[in-house]
Amino acid sequence: MGQSIIKLGVLLSGSGRTLDNFFEHIDAGGLPAEVAVVIGSRPDALGLEKARKRGVATHCVQRKEYADSESFGDAITRLLSQYGPDLVVLAGFMHFYRVPDKYLGKVMNIHPALIPAFCGHGYYGHHVHDAVLEYGSKVSGCTVHFADNIYDHGPIIIQRTAPVLDDDTADTLAARVFEQECIAYPEAIRLFAEGRLELHDRRVRIKPAR
Ligand code: GAR
Repeated sequence: MGQSIIKLGVLLSGSGRTLDNFFEHIDAGGLPAEVAVVIGSRPDALGLEKARKRGVATHCVQRKEYADSESFGDAITRLLSQYGPDLVVLAGFMHFYRVPDKYLGKVMNIHPALIPAFCGHGYYGHHVHDAVLEYGSKVSGCTVHFADNIYDHGPIIIQRTAPVLDDDTADTLAARVFEQECIAYPEAIRLFAEGRLELHDRRVRIKPAR
């Protein structure tokens, strides 16, 4: 099949449920990837603990220790570079990561809404689902996209939808959207690993399997 295992660099800020999902797919043989390094933005991020338990290298880089998002991003890039990742994945990373030229097209993000709705600065975690409910949307979902240097903006790879139900709270909606995230993110990474993502301006075309 000629499928190679790609090395992932993972950035996270929280509980690491997205990272758990990667590990589950890797263990089940459905994701041709290995996690080479996990960088957390909080020393107490549970995701860092989960990575360590699995023997994965971890680092913590806190935004407050840097004067601006550029130097914060540079510190992350320097660490990532030590591990030579093929793809950097933002997995519940709650900061802006300035993508250096050498990583353009090699950084993915997942956002828990259908971009370009309910995204951008201030829209993360439950703020997103609160806004969807407040607006009265009937459908939400998740978006996996390549990151560029505008928050939640780069070319869209996969979107999956989830209905918004009349009695939803932010928690119940978040859980329904997260089920879709658990399908969409490994799928996008798998397509990348298989060399099947082709970029045409803002459009990502998925090439057929060989
Ligand atoms: C996911 O719902 C993801 O879409 C969201 O954080 C959650 C994962 O965190 N990301 C964002 O809101 C980024 N803007 P976890 O893996 O730590 O549970």
